[in-house]
Parts: sequence; structure tokens; C-alpha cells
Amino acid sequence: MKSETRSNSISTLDNVEAIRMIDKENMGRMISSFPSLLKEAVTLSRGLALPRDYRNVKEIIVCGMGGSAIGGDLFKDLSQSITPLRVSVIRDYDLPNHVDGNSLVVAVSYSGNTEETLEAFKQAYERGSRMVAVASNGLLEKACSKLKIPFLGVPSGYTPRSALPLLFIPLLKIAEEIGFPVVGEGELAEAHRLVEEYNHGLTPENPLSRNPAKQLAARLHEKLPIIYSMGHLKSVALRYKDQINENAKMRAMCDQLPEANHNEVEAWEKIDFKELLHVVFIDSRFKNPYLAESINQLVSTIEKEGVGLSMVKPLGETMLEEMLSAIILGDWVSYYLAILRGVDPAPVRLISELKMKHDEKTRYFEKFEEWLYKSG
Ligand code: PA5
Repeated sequence: MKSETRSNSISTLDNVEAIRMIDKENMGRMISSFPSLLKEAVTLSRGLALPRDYRNVKEIIVCGMGGSAIGGDLFKDLSQSITPLRVSVIRDYDLPNHVDGNSLVVAVSYSGNTEETLEAFKQAYERGSRMVAVASNGLLEKACSKLKIPFLGVPSGYTPRSALPLLFIPLLKIAEEIGFPVVGEGELAEAHRLVEEYNHGLTPENPLSRNPAKQLAARLHEKLPIIYSMGHLKSVALRYKDQINENAKMRAMCDQLPEANHNEVEAWEKIDFKELLHVVFIDSRFKNPYLAESINQLVSTIEKEGVGLSMVKPLGETMLEEMLSAIILGDWVSYYLAILRGVDPAPVRLISELKMKHDEKTRYFEKFEEWLYKSG
């Protein structure tokens, strides 16, 4: 059945009963679980031990799609700022040519049944790569058990996008296992404390007048959000876009600096429908000083055009804290945008339908099972 959208007034954001009626599958509870999932993910990851020879790999390749891939991007952004480890994130069926026996391929799929991820997993196995997988269930778990590949099982019952901590934190543990510690447990515990406290102020019970997530959602309501970020927060801008797409079923764009100043900036002249745009900058205290000047230039160009603009200043003293605090804010913003549009945030009808129709045509899962039967 097609879902109807109906715009609600901003005051709906302070009507907890009305929010409950729209959020039928309780996405609010899942977003609120973000801090506790962070803690749970740290505990779960302690159980992941990798063979000693995994320490010799030249790179980590994270394979996943959508809500299961974004944790790979966060991991890449963070680890490349801190360690010499080479990380790539592959959202595709085919692995790059250079992936071989000296690569560590990490397959991440919350359902464990995503075609692209399974195909990349199969290719990695055939190339003799070191491997490890993270999933809640599905063929990925079955394949790891049959092929004796290290596997981390995470709890089911969430949407993949709200399970982000369960899919991101294990990557930090994997890096540590192969000799590239990115952040220690102490830093994770501090970040958890910060995010838990921040989250209280973002929940539906906290009124618009004191709730930065509701305030940003109110500014973005009935607009096209254009989200910019930089450095280790590039993946956070993508997370904002994806969460707005999936939770609010709304279009959004994202771009990164300094690159946007070399192409996208041209679109800030002769703007069509400027009253329908709203720009969000996710700033960082860790940016290169030259980058600060690039931001100033872009901001003043946009302001000159009279387009609405909001600055997000993530909380925290570390890159990890900035990432996580910006994410929890953005997740709630996407949630409140869904409420304002009167759409149930959790279901992703089109994604599910596309996957079903696709499998009817490709019969991929049967083929993967046949391959698995013959392998190992
Ligand atoms: O958010 C979603 O539901 C999607 O983006 C999924 O994460 C994506 O389709 C991949 O599925 P999975 O996360 O189960 O591998």
C-alpha cells in the first residue's frame, strides 16, 4: 500500500502522544538506544579474536551496503586520521582488482542477506583474502560457520541504520586485533558518557525551546537540506543525508569541503527555488586551518544569496566524540522531519520491495547457497 504524507505543524514536535501515533514501529526507541548500543558493542567486540597471521595484511576492505556500510565510512574517516592503516569501503558486487591474499575483507550486513555484500564476500574467499564478518543472522552467518571464517554476531531487532554502533565499533576492534589501535576503551567510554547525556536533551520529551534536534528539524521542514562537512566528518554528512532519506522519506543532498569549492560552489549562483533550500554545515574543531578559510568563503557566498543556513557544532574533545555527537543529533533531526511529514520513520517500503523484486529476477540467494554447498 502507498503511504500518504501530510505536513504537520511545528507544534506537533512537542506532542508526545501525536509522535507516538506517527512512529508506529517505535523508531524513537531505536534512536534512543544509540548510547546503550555503543556500550553493548564494546562488550560484544571484546569476544572477537582474529588469527595472528591477520596482522600481516596490507589493508582493510569493508564491504557493505546502506545502513551497514556507513559504519565502514566512519571507521575509514577516523582510522585514516589516526593510524597508517589503509581502509577502503566497497558498496558493490565486485572487489577492486588489488584485493588479494594480503587484504583483510570485512563483510558487514545487518541482515546477513544482502546480495552485493554476499557476492563481495564470495569473491574475497575465492581470492584467498583474510576475512571476518559482522551480521545479526542470515547467509553471511551460515557461510562463516561453513567456511570457518571469524564471525561476530550482533543482536537483531533493530533497523540496520539504528544498529550503527553494533556495526561500527567492531571495526575498531578488528583494527586493534591486527595491530592498529584507533581508539582505546577509555576514549570509547568517555564518548559513550557524552552521547548518553546529549541524547537526553534530544528526545521527544524535551521541548522544542530546549531541543536542538527539534529546532534544526523545524528549520529543515519543507526544504531541501544540503549538508556539508569535511575531514573525519565527511561520513557524518552522508549519514545525515541517508537518515533523512530513510526516516523522513525526503530528498537531501550532501557534499564535502574543500572539494565543493572546486565544483558545487558554482551552483550557488543564479539559484532556482532558493526559498526551498536550507544548508547545514557540520563543523569540526579539528579541521585544517586552510579549510576554515574555505568554509568562510562558502558560507559568505551562500549567505549573500539569502539561503537559510544552520551551523552544527559537534560536542566533544575528540574526533570520535564529534562524530558520535553529530550523528545522534542528525538521527533525531531525521526522526522529527518524519514526524513533521506525518510518515512512519522505521519502514523502508521501497527498499524492501526493490530487494524482493530483484531477488525474484536474479535468484541470487539460491546461487549463493549452491556455491556455499560446493565450497569449504
Ligand atoms: O537502512 C537500510 O535498511 C538499508 O540501507 C540496508 O542497510 C541495506 O539495504 C543493506 O542491508 P543490510 O544492512 O541488511 O545488509
